[in-house]
Amino acid sequence: MSLEEKLGEMTQLSPNFFGAAESVDLTGPMQQMNLKSEDVPLLGSTLNAFGAENIIEMQKRHMERQPHHIPMLFMADVIHGLKTVYPIPLAMGCSFDTGLMEESAAMAAREAAATGVQLTFSPMCDLVRDPRWGRVMESPGEDPLLIARMTAATVKGYQGDDMSAPDRIASCFKHFGGYGGSEGGRDYNTVDISDGMLREFYLDGYKAAVDAGAAMGMTSFNTIDRIPATGSKKLYRKILRDEWGFDGVAITDFDAVNEMIPHGLAAGGKEAAKYALEAGVDIEMMSTHILNYGKELVRSGEVDEKLIDEAVWRILSLKNRLGLFENPFKGADAGKEKEVCQCDAHMALARKAAARCVVLLKNEGKILPLQKGAKLGLAGPFADSLSVLGGWSITATGGNSTLLRGLQMHGAEVKTAMAEELKPMQMGFFDVSDQTAELDSLADCEIVVAAVGEHPDDTGESASRTILRLSHNQEKMLEKLHDMGKKVVAVVFSGRPLELKPVLPFCDAVVQAWFLGSEAGAGIGDVLFGDVNPSARLSMSFPQTVGQVPVYYNHMNTGRPVVGKPHRFVSCYLDCPNEPLYPFGYGLSYSEYAYSNLRVEKTEGGLPLQVSVDVENTSKVAGRETVQLYIRDVAASCVRPVKELKDFVQVDLAPGEKKTVSFTVTTEMLSFWNNEAFVFEHGDFVIMAGHSSDEVLSETVTL
Ligand code: GLC
Repeated sequence: MSLEEKLGEMTQLSPNFFGAAESVDLTGPMQQMNLKSEDVPLLGSTLNAFGAENIIEMQKRHMERQPHHIPMLFMADVIHGLKTVYPIPLAMGCSFDTGLMEESAAMAAREAAATGVQLTFSPMCDLVRDPRWGRVMESPGEDPLLIARMTAATVKGYQGDDMSAPDRIASCFKHFGGYGGSEGGRDYNTVDISDGMLREFYLDGYKAAVDAGAAMGMTSFNTIDRIPATGSKKLYRKILRDEWGFDGVAITDFDAVNEMIPHGLAAGGKEAAKYALEAGVDIEMMSTHILNYGKELVRSGEVDEKLIDEAVWRILSLKNRLGLFENPFKGADAGKEKEVCQCDAHMALARKAAARCVVLLKNEGKILPLQKGAKLGLAGPFADSLSVLGGWSITATGGNSTLLRGLQMHGAEVKTAMAEELKPMQMGFFDVSDQTAELDSLADCEIVVAAVGEHPDDTGESASRTILRLSHNQEKMLEKLHDMGKKVVAVVFSGRPLELKPVLPFCDAVVQAWFLGSEAGAGIGDVLFGDVNPSARLSMSFPQTVGQVPVYYNHMNTGRPVVGKPHRFVSCYLDCPNEPLYPFGYGLSYSEYAYSNLRVEKTEGGLPLQVSVDVENTSKVAGRETVQLYIRDVAASCVRPVKELKDFVQVDLAPGEKKTVSFTVTTEMLSFWNNEAFVFEHGDFVIMAGHSSDEVLSETVTL
C-alpha cells in the first residue's frame, strides 16, 4: 500500500460522501473536509449507513474503486437495539441482570448484522454521577462493578465467540476515558479528575470491555490531565496498550482530532494529526487531518511511518477477524433483515426487558398492583406517546406499545385527559400547555395514572440540563389530581434521574419507567397489573435537588462526616440532607425481603473470606431479589469510599421461602489504587450485605 492508501484506510466519513441511498449522516458537527474526490476510494470505513441492499451496493461500488479492492468497514450507533429497541443502558443497569443484557445485545447484533452493520459504537461504559449530563442514559450507571459486568455482557452479546459469524457484530467501548466526569454536567466540558479517581472509579468499564475482547475503543471529547483524550499518550499508549495489552483498533470520536485545535492543544490540523498519531489513534472519524497532513508529517520525519503501519495493520486485522476478505458483505441479507427485525421473539424479549427495568420507587398503601379491568384515569404527556424508545434509537420507528395500550392490554377501562405530548427543548419547547381544567373529566376515576417526564430528544448527547424538575404544568397537573382526592400513580419517563421530591406528596405510587424501547407500554403494564413483580434496583442515585449534584453512594467520608443529627462544623448543607432522595441499589417490589444471619468467615490465611446471608421472602408474592455485597476499607494509605459494591447475586424466592446467599471476598476485591499500583493493605474491613446500598447488615473483620 502507498502512504496515501494507508492514510485513507485510517479515515472514516459518513455515507453521504459515498453517495449512500440510506443513512443517518450527522451525529456531530460537519466541518470543512478539504477532501479530494480521488481520496474517496481510499477511505477505510463509514458510519451509520443502514439497509442490507444499500450496504451491499455501497460495498460493491467501493471495492471496485479501491486500488487493492480492500472492503470498507461499516460501523454504526446501535446503542440499545436496531429496529427492536430494548431499554436505555441506564435502565438495563437497573436490572442488575447480565444474562438479560447479553441476550438483548445478541438480539441487537442479529438485527444489525442482517442490515449490513459490521461493528457498533457500543457499549458506552462511562461512569456517571451527574444527572445534568444528558448522556447518563447511555451508561450502566454510577458503580464501577455494575458498569464492568454489564459492559462485559454487552460485548459478549454482540461478538459471541466469533465476531465473523453472520449474526454477530464487533463492539467498540467508549468514550475512553472519563467522559462522564464533565464539569457541571455540561457535555463536552472539561474533565479534571485525579489519577486516583480515574483509576479507582472511571476505568473499570473500559477495562472490562478490553478483557471481554472488545474489538475497538473510542476516544472521548474531554481532556484528561489537561490533554484531550484523542491526543493522550497516557490513556492510549500507557494504560490501554502497555498496561492492558489492548491490540484492537482505536477510533476517535466524531471530529475529535480536529477539536484538539479549539481545545488549544494543536495550533492547526497538521499538529492535531501529529498528536493523534503519537497517541496511537488508528481511525480518524469525520475529520481529515491525518489524511491531509500524514504524508507531510512522514516525509518531514516528524512522524515515523511505523506508527502509520501499526495503525493500518490493526485496521486490516480487524477486517480480517470480521471475515471481510472472504465475505465483504458479512451478514447483510435483505431477506434476513425482514425476517429478524421486530420479529415476535425479539419483541417478546424487548417486553421482558422493559418490565425488568421498571423501578418501583414508592407504593403508599400498596395501591400497586392495580386490579385487572380497573377503571382508570390517564393523564400527562406520555399517556399515549410513542416517544418512549429513548435516545440513539436512530433507525427505529416509534414504539409498538404506548402506556395507554399497555393499560388496555390488561383489560383496563381508561379515560384520558391532559394528554398533550411534550415537544423537545431542543426545538424551543419547555412545557405542555396548562390543560388542568380537562382533569375534571376524570372526576369518576378513583385512580389516575400520571404519565410524566422529559422528552427523549432532551436526553443523550448535547442534552445537558440545569433544572431537573418536571415542567411546571406537569407538576401542576399532579397537584390538582391530588387536590381532587385521586389516588395517583406517577409513571416517570426520563433518561436520567429527575428531581421528584417536589411532587412526591401528590403521588401514592411512583414508577421510574426510563425509556424502555419498543415494548415500553406493554412492559410497564405488566408491572402495574402485577404480571411482573418489579425487581429493578437503581443504577444511579436520585438527588433531592439538583443543588446536591453530584451525589453518589460510593463517596469518601471526609474529616467531618455527619454522625447523627447534622450540626455546625460538619460536612452538610444548611438547606438539604446529604443523602439522595433514592440511593444506588434502591427499589421496591410487591414482595418484602428480610435479611438475617450475616456470617463472615476467614480462611486460615485470612483471605479469601466466606460471606453468607439469609434472605427470606416474607410476603405472599414470588419475587426476584438482588442481594448486594458491599465492603468498606476503614483505614488505608489512601482514603477509601464509605462503601463499594463488590458482588451481587439474584435469587428467585417463592412466598415464605428463605435462601442462604454466599459470596467469596478475595484480596483483589479489597485492593485499591495507591497512586502507584493496585495494592491490598491489612486492617479493618466492614463487610455488608443487603437489599440496597443503604439497607445492609454489616460486620467488621480485621485482616
Ligand atoms: C458521537 C458520539 C459517539 C458516537 C459517534 C458516532 O459524537 O459522541 O458516542 O458513537 O459520534 O455517531
